Amino acid sequence: MRIIRSIRALQNWRRKHENQKIGFVPTMGALHEGHFSLIRQARKHCSMVVVSIFVNPLQFGPAEDLSRYPRTVKIDQQWCRDSGVDLLFWPSSEEFYPKVFQTSVKVNRLSQRWEGEARPTHFEGVTTVVTKLLCLVHPNRSYFGQKDYQQLLIIKQMVQDLNIDTKIVRCPTIRESDGLALSSRNRFLLESQRRKAVSLSTALKQGVQAIKQGATNARIIQSSMQKILRKISGVKIEYLAVCDAKTLEPLTSVKGEVVLLGAIQIGNIRLIDNLLVKRPS
Ligand code: PAJ
Repeated sequence: MRIIRSIRALQNWRRKHENQKIGFVPTMGALHEGHFSLIRQARKHCSMVVVSIFVNPLQFGPAEDLSRYPRTVKIDQQWCRDSGVDLLFWPSSEEFYPKVFQTSVKVNRLSQRWEGEARPTHFEGVTTVVTKLLCLVHPNRSYFGQKDYQQLLIIKQMVQDLNIDTKIVRCPTIRESDGLALSSRNRFLLESQRRKAVSLSTALKQGVQAIKQGATNARIIQSSMQKILRKISGVKIEYLAVCDAKTLEPLTSVKGEVVLLGAIQIGNIRLIDNLLVKRPS
């Protein structure tokens, strides 16, 4: 596995491999089985796999956990090597955003609600970094997790709007055996918090079940999810929403494909999750 830290070297590498089918997995490191599932998908469909590790300062708000974000680069490198990654791009912040940097990319409507409301500058940071990465790596296919569903939709929209020539592949959320979605931030959960954290996926599953049993009123579905979380002390609900799976607009009554979105706080740790469901016909 080659490790590249400079932009110039990455551009040269890409020119040398212009005939390869490149699969790309952008990450912020602290890799876990969720990331590896993306890498495996990329290996299945592409001749070469590129992974990037970059804790992108632009997507963290001033009061957020940029300095605390887990960094495990040595282990990540080893795991990437063992997983058959061909190239690891691991730039420094100074390399990626030189002092003169002044461009940003923003997807408007899809970025406004949910995570966008809780973290107002977050998605602009994500779309800016992902645009730069896609320009550099020029992948045939780019792999993103359903775990960050709003991010996935925003990136799809951006690629469509800007005519970026890559296919965005959605990969399923990987979970612990009890249902908790894997996340780099889970390592910060104390044991007592970890036990409570699973309640988010339990609540979303409850919502799916209600829809599968024929519930259509979004308020009723929402309150069935809230009921589960309200029982648990120390869990703060940020949002629990029943939304159209394409626009992320909240629904009053369920139709077509629906996404149930949730965000909670446990202590100072924020967790998000979602489930997709179709109304039974
Ligand atoms: P990061 O949180 O490291 O996630 C990298 C990719 O892994 C994203 O596409 C994310 O959705 C996916 N992922 C995370 N947890 C997952 C899980 N449990 N199951 C399946 N996929 C999972 O998302 C980011 O980094 C950044 O915003 C990034 C896109 C790299 C831009 O900086």
